[in-house]
Amino acid sequence: MNMQRDRIFASPVEPSDFSFNHQVADVFTDMITRSVPGYSDLVQNIGILATNFAKDHDVIYDLGCSLGAVSKVISNYLPQSKIIAIDNSAAMIANCRANLNLTNIELLEADILKIAFVPHQFAVLNFTLQFIEPKQRLHLLQNIYQALQPSCALVLAEKIKFTDDDKQNLITNLHLNFKRQQGYSELEIAQKRTSLEKVLIPDTLEEHINRLQQAGFSKVIPWFSCLNFVSILAIK
Ligand SMILES: C[S@@+](CC[C@H](N)C(=O)[O-])C[C@H]1O[C@@H](n2cnc3c(N)ncnc32)[C@H](O)[C@@H]1O
Repeated sequence: MNMQRDRIFASPVEPSDFSFNHQVADVFTDMITRSVPGYSDLVQNIGILATNFAKDHDVIYDLGCSLGAVSKVISNYLPQSKIIAIDNSAAMIANCRANLNLTNIELLEADILKIAFVPHQFAVLNFTLQFIEPKQRLHLLQNIYQALQPSCALVLAEKIKFTDDDKQNLITNLHLNFKRQQGYSELEIAQKRTSLEKVLIPDTLEEHINRLQQAGFSKVIPWFSCLNFVSILAIK
């Protein structure tokens, strides 16, 4: 996997909205590992979760796959499953294709809001829903739910926000400290935050749980959290 150091915001840059372009795709593994506390553990455990709901020859979606970290782990656990890994960033798909050469992973450059889901046993939205326009989020979850087989599951990981200001401030400060410890400078942290402001729109944990229930999921279980990053298991 590509582990080039993320220095995108290290020097002053013209303010612009964050996008998953070539510059980001080239450093993405380093960027997400140093920005999301617990990312590696979370991804490893998705592989274990997958084995609880899917078996070899079943269909698994990795939605917003970026460089394919989730697909790769699931493939290690279920080498005969059919993993459909989708991203609408041409740069991500190109780098993913170059890095990941596994015969059971089908890579697609497509918009997950526009695809027709086939029957599947497991789906993953690992930090992808937060980049989808809020008005479209329920519809996407409904589409996934409809094609998901009975008793099968979706795993949804997101950066969350808190309605309580004290909680929000405390957790934000702890996350800032995490990023500082990962070697990000104040300039890098500030410029990235500005660039993500209109692009990454977080919901509260309650909003996620309610939306998943509204989409039809019968069991909605937060199973992993680290600061303001939460993963939820939603079972049909
Ligand atoms: C934070 S990254 C996901 C990280 C990845 N799942 C992982 O665990 O390493 C979000 C990804 O979602 C993709 N994305 C955003 N909106 C999308 C859409 N409508 N259709 C497909 N991919 C989308 C972005 O291009 C980006 O690669």
